[in-house]
Amino acid sequence: MDRYCVFGNPIAHSKSPEIHAAFAAQTGQDISYEKRLAPVDGFAAAVQAFIAEGGLGANVTVPFKLDAVKVAQALTIRARAAGAVNTLHFTEDGIVGDNTDGAGLVTDIVSNAGVTITGKRVLLLGAGGAARGVVLPILEHRPAQLVIANRTVATAEALVEQFAALGGEGVVSACGFSALEGAFDIVINATSASLSAELPPISPSIFGPGSLALDMMYGASPTVFLQFADRHGAQLKLRDGLGMLVEQAAEAFSLWRGVRPDTAEVLQALRAKL
Ligand code: ATR
Repeated sequence: MDRYCVFGNPIAHSKSPEIHAAFAAQTGQDISYEKRLAPVDGFAAAVQAFIAEGGLGANVTVPFKLDAVKVAQALTIRARAAGAVNTLHFTEDGIVGDNTDGAGLVTDIVSNAGVTITGKRVLLLGAGGAARGVVLPILEHRPAQLVIANRTVATAEALVEQFAALGGEGVVSACGFSALEGAFDIVINATSASLSAELPPISPSIFGPGSLALDMMYGASPTVFLQFADRHGAQLKLRDGLGMLVEQAAEAFSLWRGVRPDTAEVLQALRAKL
C-alpha cells in the first residue's frame, strides 16, 4: 500500500487523515495516510525516516512549513513564491516541495462559493505566512486590484515588492487598516487574530452588498471576523477556512495520485462533525 502522512507538532487535531481516507475511498486509490508527530528540532530526520519506510509523500503543517522548504531539493513556483511548503512529493529525482494552500483557497472561492476573482477588488488582511501563500494564486485569476492591509505596513509593502514582478505590477498595493478606502468584492482574513478571538481594526465600509467575507480559520462557531462581517454587511456571503482545508488536500492528492477527488461530499461530512 502506498504510504503518505502529515507532519506537525502538535498533530493530534489534524483532519488530514480523515480527508485523504475519504478521497482514497472515493477514487479507489489504495493508500494509507497517517499523522506523524515530529520533534520541533527534528523535522528533516522525521522526513528521512518516513522515506526510508517507503513513504511517497507528506503534508506539512505548523510549525514545519519553513523547515520543509529546506528539506526539499526542488520547489514549485508557487512554493517558492509562498516561501513555505505544505506538500512534499518523494520522487525518483528527489524531494519536491509544493504549496497547495493558495490554490486551495482560490478553488474554494471560485468553485465552491461561486465567486469570480477576475476583475474584482480583493482585500487581503494580514501579511504573514498565510497571506503570502495565497497572493500568487489570487493574482493568477487577474483581479482588478489586490490590496494587502496589515498592522505592520512594512511587511505588506515587502509582499507588494515581491509580487510586483509576478503579475502584481499595478494590481497589488499595501496599506494599514485605517487607510483602507471603499468596498471590496472579496475580503480574506489571513491574519492570525481569529486564533485569539481578536478582530483586525477594520471598518464595516470594506464590505459592499453581496461581498464575500472569508476567514482562513474555522471552528464550531463563526470567527469574530465572520460575526463582524455578518453584523455589518448587506447580503454578504460568509465562508470559513474549512473549504480551503479540503481543497488544499485535494490539490495534494491530485499531485500524488494523478486523480482529482470530488470535494463537496467530504466538505459536507467534515462540516457536520465540527
Ligand atoms: P501565519 O502563518 O498564520 O500567517 P504569521 O506569519 O505570524 O502567521 O502572521 C500573522 C499575521 O497576522 C500578521 O500579518 C500579523 O500582523 P503583523 O505583521 O503586524 O504582526 C497578523 N496579526 C496577528 N494578530 C493580529 C491582530 N490582533 N490584529 C491584526 N493583525 C494581527
